Amino acid sequence: MTQTKIEKSAQDRVLIFDTTLRDGEQSPGATMSHAEKLEIAALLDEMGVDIIEAGFPIASDGDFEAVSAIAGLAKSSVICGLARANFKDIDRCWEAIKHAHHPRIHTFIGTSPLHRDITKLSQDDMIARIHDTVSYARNLCDNVQWSPMDATRTEHDYLCRVVETAIKAGASTINIPDTVGYTAPAESAALISMLLERVPGADSIIFATHCHNDLGMATANALAAVGAGARQIECTINGLGERAGNTALEEVVMALRVRNDIMPYQTGIDTTKIMKASRLVATVSGFPVQFNKAIVGKNAFLHESGIHQDGVLKNAETFEIMRPADIGLTETNLVMGKHSGRAALRSKLSDLGFDLADNQLNDVFVRFKALADRKKEIYDDDLIALMQDSATNAQNDTLQITHLRVVCGTEGPQTADLTMTVDGSVHQVSATGDGPVDACFKAVQMVFPHTARLQLYQVHAVTEGTDAQATVSVRMEEDGKIVTGQSADTDTVVASARAYVNALNKLIFRRLRSAPNADVKSVNYRDASTS
Ligand code: KIV
Ligand code: ZN
Repeated sequence: MTQTKIEKSAQDRVLIFDTTLRDGEQSPGATMSHAEKLEIAALLDEMGVDIIEAGFPIASDGDFEAVSAIAGLAKSSVICGLARANFKDIDRCWEAIKHAHHPRIHTFIGTSPLHRDITKLSQDDMIARIHDTVSYARNLCDNVQWSPMDATRTEHDYLCRVVETAIKAGASTINIPDTVGYTAPAESAALISMLLERVPGADSIIFATHCHNDLGMATANALAAVGAGARQIECTINGLGERAGNTALEEVVMALRVRNDIMPYQTGIDTTKIMKASRLVATVSGFPVQFNKAIVGKNAFLHESGIHQDGVLKNAETFEIMRPADIGLTETNLVMGKHSGRAALRSKLSDLGFDLADNQLNDVFVRFKALADRKKEIYDDDLIALMQDSATNAQNDTLQITHLRVVCGTEGPQTADLTMTVDGSVHQVSATGDGPVDACFKAVQMVFPHTARLQLYQVHAVTEGTDAQATVSVRMEEDGKIVTGQSADTDTVVASARAYVNALNKLIFRRLRSAPNADVKSVNYRDASTS
């Protein structure tokens, strides 16, 4: 079934393989909860993503559960799980995805000289391992993808040998990762051409391109690979991913659409869902989208200069190569206020890409009214911040702030009186600090002692005006685990305290999540034998 779907589309279509939930989630601090992963997967499925890489099942029980649940919910996307080149990983992966309508096993091994040094495998031994593991995976699943990690730094002759081995062993997709974001467009294209030309059987499989953005060339590299014959692009929403991230889904999809004259390939993506996906991923990952980010940045469709505004008003095409509506961005910024009713709120939120069930709407309406009491005019960005805040500060969180009063001003010391619940039990403390935010954080620390270190504290105003909401982001680190927290409020100090608590809740979630069994970048063969 899966094969048919892909074979049919291979000639005229570029397949979109989204790895937000695997490579994206690997980004330090981008931890997502089980429910959040399911919500993202459902949206990716709905927007027409061909293949969803749902996770790395052997990494932890939490990863396994998430991949398995996503395999159960996806209606049309192929559901892929990642596995290193050993039987144990592949078995665990298959266990998680086998009930999907369209399952795929993705197995990989580092093939460059640097990676061969780490694994201490000779070239021939690695060839044997690739043959054994891909054949093993192919016996379980009729859709197997194989990746030579660090392909762009692997010797060409050896790359041809490993790719040929994987094809002979039954892989139907060969992914060519630029693991460290080292390649450049011309080289990316030449690599795919070289493989298509030299590897026997290359014309019977699909080549995928998987680029990292370390030099800011991930999108260009992916598109160049497509020009040379790759027919699957691996990418993430907002370009989320380790270090500088992965190829951004919205960039390649919109580039193929806007410049179809020179890149005549189709994707199956419903582009009007792009903005919704971008906001969802930014919210749950805690990685805000930079203002000038292509396609989904806050400024991507803003025209500040008079000449541009005039041109756009007369004819949008003067300065716009795509319409905001193409990515699901509503053009109106209708101001709402305390007299706006539930129906108006529902309709506005739906325009912004948030479709709420009745009980969710009731909850958001209460928060909207509270905000409208403090802020006269509520703009789209206020509502987006409110929705993100509702998503990040859930009612079932372990730590919850119920009351906060802060005294600050020119006469120190600044004091915070805080009431917080920890797993439902109430704690009341008072703390002083070097400024109101410091006092709040110390009060939280008194209620919930921890060793996490604050790495980043950032405030920005959601809209203009002195009554604007402030969005606060914090990043914290404990024993190598990094989490981010976010909150928005018209009171910057309240937003700060809640962002801090949000990060701690995520840390608690990380601690509770079963101990990781494996790190995707470590290729440890001792825990599993392929013989
Ligand atoms: O970047 C990379 O090499 C990867 C592989 C696991 C495919 O993400
Ligand atoms: Zn990667």
